[in-house]
Amino acid sequence: MTPPPDPAGSPPALSVRDLRKTYDTKVEALKGVSLDVAQGDFFALLGPNGAGKSTLIGIVSSLVNLSGGEVRVFGTDLASDRAAAMRLIGLVPQEINFNMFEKPLDILVNYAGFYGIPREEALVRAEQELRRAHLWEKARMMSRTLSGGMKRRLMIARAMMTRPRLLILDEPTAGVDIEIRRGMWHTLREINAAGTTIILTTHYLEEAESLCRNLAIIDRGSIVAAGPMKSLLARLDVEGFLLDIDGQLPARLPAIEGATLSAADDHTLDIEMPRAMDLNRVFAVLGEAGIRVRSMRTKSNRLEELFVRMTGDNAADGTAQVAPEPTA
Ligand SMILES: Nc1ncnc2c1ncn2[C@@H]1O[C@H](COP(=O)(O)OP(=O)(O)OP(=O)(O)O)[C@@H](O)[C@H]1O
Ligand SMILES: [Mg+2]
Repeated sequence: MTPPPDPAGSPPALSVRDLRKTYDTKVEALKGVSLDVAQGDFFALLGPNGAGKSTLIGIVSSLVNLSGGEVRVFGTDLASDRAAAMRLIGLVPQEINFNMFEKPLDILVNYAGFYGIPREEALVRAEQELRRAHLWEKARMMSRTLSGGMKRRLMIARAMMTRPRLLILDEPTAGVDIEIRRGMWHTLREINAAGTTIILTTHYLEEAESLCRNLAIIDRGSIVAAGPMKSLLARLDVEGFLLDIDGQLPARLPAIEGATLSAADDHTLDIEMPRAMDLNRVFAVLGEAGIRVRSMRTKSNRLEELFVRMTGDNAADGTAQVAPEPTA
């Protein structure tokens, strides 16, 4: 049966209670956010622009002062022992912020020095991290000459130099193409498999779906849904497809009980149907009506749909909580 989320008695990697942040501008960026991220988890924080994701991450990594609430990192209270909590965290900010005129090896070793790691040890770690990031061949080149994807992997390698137990990434793959993203996913999975808890924010919902076991959706400063990816996705019982049609759609579309059909344009049929509905039945009815389907595609990513529903006006009632999924 399902094991407990953590080894007996061990605290969550991150525990946030009733976190509030009001900026000087009076913007209420966080309105009492609570969440737990279990040790070993790969956790996604999703939310639209301005939801409060970076504010939350900023508070956890001590870049932003909180207005109220409590943050614990592996049980260590941020307010009473900030330095100890900070030693457990590695942060990959959204913007690339290393010196482009330094070499990757120097960037990593200097960063480690900043955290009091002796140079000899730093050199060993730097080689390990650069190899893991597939950047070892670039170790002594000017960072400016790295590709966009390499620069991002270098940011992750740098954060890993302190051997953080919790790695936090703020939109690590924003604006990078799918190939680079997949390469980064590989690196992040390796890091997680080696025991580091990972939290990331992302706008790429497929990214969360592909990488993360648990997630929280934040909207306008409040958590609107949280729990295992699987349970949240299971709540989506409706699926949408776009069917490309040979020739033109008839003016009168056939009726299929339980499904909603509409014409997206003359050649494209939009269909919404319960997940459990048999697609063969749909095709049979369409065939009888003389509609020949050339190809079909899913209308939206399922997580995308979930996201839209959870952050929709009538969904923001905070009732979406489900029990967290145990992590390995
Ligand atoms: N330094 C700041 N001073 C004043 N307001 C801020 C500051 N930083 C963020 N905000 C405001 O707080 C709210 C939350 O912003 P935040 O950056 O946390 O959102 P986000 O979820 O990270 O958005 P995005 O997806 O666009 O990065 C927004 O209304 C934003 O304008
Ligand atoms: Mg942000």
